[in-house]
Amino acid sequence: PTIHVTDRDGSQSSFEARPGLTLMEALRGAGYDSIEAICGGNCSCATCHVLIDPDWADTLPPRANDEDDLVADTDAYDETRSRLSCQIAVTDALDGLRLTVAPED
Ligand code: FES
Repeated sequence: PTIHVTDRDGSQSSFEARPGLTLMEALRGAGYDSIEAICGGNCSCATCHVLIDPDWADTLPPRANDEDDLVADTDAYDETRSRLSCQIAVTDALDGLRLTVAPED
């Protein structure tokens, strides 16, 4: 699936994500170093926080409780748009997804 990204510096780009990865892994693999992911995808750091385009909010599975607790604690928290990218599996259903890398916490 093609993912469209607005990076933290406002630059816009797109990349092809491989199904089977998490969205965090796909972003990092594509060189988006603004996604630090310092916990390695264990849902404990929130440095993989992205803001999903509102049009896509309903396409994604809802936040699990641990994701919800962690992301709700961030300064950039947006109830509709906030997701931890390590908790989202890349599937073909995400083709065309638009996201913005969340500001640093
Ligand atoms: Fe740490 Fe996602 S990588 S919460």
